[in-house]
Amino acid sequence: MLESTPFEIPVFRPVTDPVSEKTDVVVVGLTESGALTPTLSAIDGLTDKWISRLIELGQLRGKQGELSLLASPLSDGPVMILVVGLGNKPVTRSDAFESSASAIRKLVDRKRDRVVVSLAESFPEEFQEQIVAGAVSACEVQALYQADPPIEVPASIEFSGIGQAVIDRGAVIGQSINQTRRLVNEPPAMVYPASFAERVEELAAGTELQIEVWDENKLEAEGCRSILAVGAGSSKPPRLVIMRYQGGGNEAPLALVGKGVTFDSGGLSLKPSDAMVDMKCDMAGAATVVGVMLAAAKLGLRKNLIGLCGLAENMVSGDSYKLGDVIETRSGKTIEILNTDAEGRVVLADTLDVAVQCEPQAIVDLATLTGACMVALGTEVVGMMTNDQALCDAVRQAAEVQGEPVWQLPMFELYDEKVKSKVADIKNVGEGRWGGAITAAKFLENFVGDVPWLHLDIAGPAFAESPKSHRDAGATGVMVRTLLQWIASKD
Ligand code: BES
Ligand code: MN
Ligand code: ZN
Repeated sequence: MLESTPFEIPVFRPVTDPVSEKTDVVVVGLTESGALTPTLSAIDGLTDKWISRLIELGQLRGKQGELSLLASPLSDGPVMILVVGLGNKPVTRSDAFESSASAIRKLVDRKRDRVVVSLAESFPEEFQEQIVAGAVSACEVQALYQADPPIEVPASIEFSGIGQAVIDRGAVIGQSINQTRRLVNEPPAMVYPASFAERVEELAAGTELQIEVWDENKLEAEGCRSILAVGAGSSKPPRLVIMRYQGGGNEAPLALVGKGVTFDSGGLSLKPSDAMVDMKCDMAGAATVVGVMLAAAKLGLRKNLIGLCGLAENMVSGDSYKLGDVIETRSGKTIEILNTDAEGRVVLADTLDVAVQCEPQAIVDLATLTGACMVALGTEVVGMMTNDQALCDAVRQAAEVQGEPVWQLPMFELYDEKVKSKVADIKNVGEGRWGGAITAAKFLENFVGDVPWLHLDIAGPAFAESPKSHRDAGATGVMVRTLLQWIASKD
């Protein structure tokens, strides 16, 4: 049976002296100022000012993102030295993540045993976790089905100046990002509603997460007719996964809700091939919820959380839901289907309703919901739409801290009428293409009652066409860091 490359997880440990031990590579930062970090200065001292000379000669410049891999003249100590340019601006948390990730990505091109990351000295202490998370995230790629391993993960990655406890936390964050990415990158024949649910159960084994899976019978019994409608055209029945984490006593939980369309063909409103080709990524919202829940449990965050993944495959068959169909959703509201490719909001209608019934303090949903959001914001920015400005501001602030770009779109009342139906309470498309990201959010707003709610449209940033120095193309794991930051920082 087809199987993807298993996760390769190096040993992560602290190292006290990055220069004197025999290792394969030491990774150091250099800003444009040319100031030597303690590690660079130690190397300089042992090599008759080799590093200072390279800087003076303009061979090491510290330009943002520049990677210089040098063969070390030291007979003991590291065989190679990787100098990572950190630019001339104040460094950020995402610089910590990305510089470390870029460095490790550069080093996985061949077999290496011990890689020492000595970047902590270039960043404030609060960023150390992200140095580790970035290094871990570099160990995951989208080439899951190649005979020759696409990368060689080092046997151990060691961090100078970072304690084991922080290393462990950073590794949990990095691994959770990778688990999200893995779920998204797997082909749709591997990840479909039932197998997604099974994977969640496997991933949650041994953690404090409690997992409940609603199969098609339970969905029927629960009145989740809109999830069932979207899944009706597929031979793979839908699922709803509920993940509970109790870290916060009697407090009302925060609910995270994810769109989990494991493949979006468009249904009878069939997508052309070009638009369908990446539609295995249409469960990225659900995968993000899984990543965040796993990390929250492993980090032992002192909050109550509930994660809900609405899972269905949007396919074409004699049983597919149709244009003109009217569905009575679990909430009792009726929806008219005018385009079967606007399926995400239909799945989310019932999923949000289940979330509301859990009486959460707030709901954040994540969905690869609309191409319109990509038209509005491009491929790298998450769209935010809300019924509660304070909630939106709090998540925006967390996103700023973590360096994940987000932008709020308005939810003016004037959009409300654009999802009114002549036949049912609402319809699943807006008026033409205009404001498509917002009309989709307006549809969702019908299912959250008066619970503070934030909708994150991740259609653009969840899945990347091309690689960057700090991550492969394919699934990105966007918003895992932001949501963990938000949850942890919530009073
Ligand atoms: N899954 C798509 C949105 C999408 C597009 C995600 C590109 C990632 C990349 C969604 O289900 C969809 O098809 N939306 C339609 C809605 C329209 C029919 C109202 C769209 O955006 O075209
Ligand atoms: Mn669609
Ligand atoms: Zn979709």
